[in-house]
Amino acid sequence: MIQLFHVTKTYPSNSPALVDISLQIDRGQFVFLTGPSGAGKTTLLKLLFREEEPTEGQILFDNQNVTRLNTRGVARLRRRIGLVFQEFKLLPRLTVLENVALAAQVVGMSRKESHIKAYRLLRELGLKGKYDSKPLMLSGGEQQRVAIARALINDPMLVLADEPTGNLDPVMAEETMRVFLKMRETGTTLIVASHNLELIKRYGSRIISLRQGGLVDDLERVTGAKAS
Ligand SMILES: Nc1ncnc2c1ncn2[C@@H]1O[C@H](COP(=O)(O)OP(=O)(O)OP(=O)(O)O)[C@@H](O)[C@H]1O
Ligand SMILES: [Mg+2]
Repeated sequence: MIQLFHVTKTYPSNSPALVDISLQIDRGQFVFLTGPSGAGKTTLLKLLFREEEPTEGQILFDNQNVTRLNTRGVARLRRRIGLVFQEFKLLPRLTVLENVALAAQVVGMSRKESHIKAYRLLRELGLKGKYDSKPLMLSGGEQQRVAIARALINDPMLVLADEPTGNLDPVMAEETMRVFLKMRETGTTLIVASHNLELIKRYGSRIISLRQGGLVDDLERVTGAKAS
């Protein structure tokens, strides 16, 4: 579903953040992206939803060349991707429920249907009783889970999450991973950048390690064999 061919990304006046990365991710895979701070994890995620463009190389998403999309193409691409990034803040004036439901309404779901779906997701993420709260009344971990619900409400075919469990205690981190795993049963592909080795060991079926912009390891758990 996703293919990278010799992708290099250099930010202006910086050494390369990613160097000659080639890899393929299949539909339904659950991929952990790990590596030390500055390794290029966030950069790789940003290339996939065209927040950044590669300096060299090509990226295919569902056989479409992401690097060649026009504005409408980029919008269409992003509608198929759920994003869990700390910088995509919740809207402070809306309630938790409205924050999640709105993401579905903007792509055409009815108000009623979006609310039903938002309730269900929020409940699964342990936020029952917080539906009518404003985001700023929630803890960091609770806000994080609202952001996860918002990313999942449109049943995206790909979910990109940057340290989604960073603000969560171990119990909630587990709970969140279980919600991710459930999505996987419906064929959703997940790419999670994380430092959390505990969770990576427990849930990652494929673990891609980056170091200084290079791909240093690519481990597939299912077969126990190293992927190319
Ligand atoms: N917008 C930017 N402009 C210039 N340099 C950047 C930018 N974003 C990232 N970099 C640089 O690219 C490199 C990779 O950064 P990236 O954010 O992808 O790392 P990361 O693996 O996500 O790290 P962390 O674990 O700390 O989140 C770093 O050297 C960083 O300084
Ligand atoms: Mg990062």
